Amino acid sequence: MAQTIYVLNGPNLNMLGVREPEKYGAATLADVERLCGDTCKRFGLDMVFRQSNIEGELVTIIQEARLKKAAGIVINPAAYTHTSVAILDALTLTELPVIEIHITNVHQREPFRHHSYVSKVAKAVMAGFGVQGYSLAIQGLAAMIGAKEK
Ligand code: DQA
Repeated sequence: MAQTIYVLNGPNLNMLGVREPEKYGAATLADVERLCGDTCKRFGLDMVFRQSNIEGELVTIIQEARLKKAAGIVINPAAYTHTSVAILDALTLTELPVIEIHITNVHQREPFRHHSYVSKVAKAVMAGFGVQGYSLAIQGLAAMIGAKEK
């Protein structure tokens, strides 16, 4: 049976393509979903792709990943990266490999973006590759969970 990974997106990422394109680029979230789907397919992975603007909803989806026995999680927690102990706790309880991804290089931006709660649990962090970072994050996770390119 194919392994499933969850690709999760936090607040305001539904506005990709419109939101500060000079920072986040022109791709929409639908484009990102297609890119992630194509990458997963290369590695024979099934994908659940979700976005929510609501912290508690993200917590519930993360718990669902554990219940559904997902193989790992790629997450762009967006602004909750810098604020959310609840998302850190949810990711921790899954005991799944977590890859944190940011479209921008958060370390070049305002000081409040330099701290990440999620990094406490993430196996790896990808930042500054634009939306291509999602594909790179999935490739890294695939290697971690032993999914080979077809
Ligand atoms: C982001 C960086 C965060 O600081 C910001 O709040 C976001 C997007 C990124 O992908 O670069 O919403 O996670």
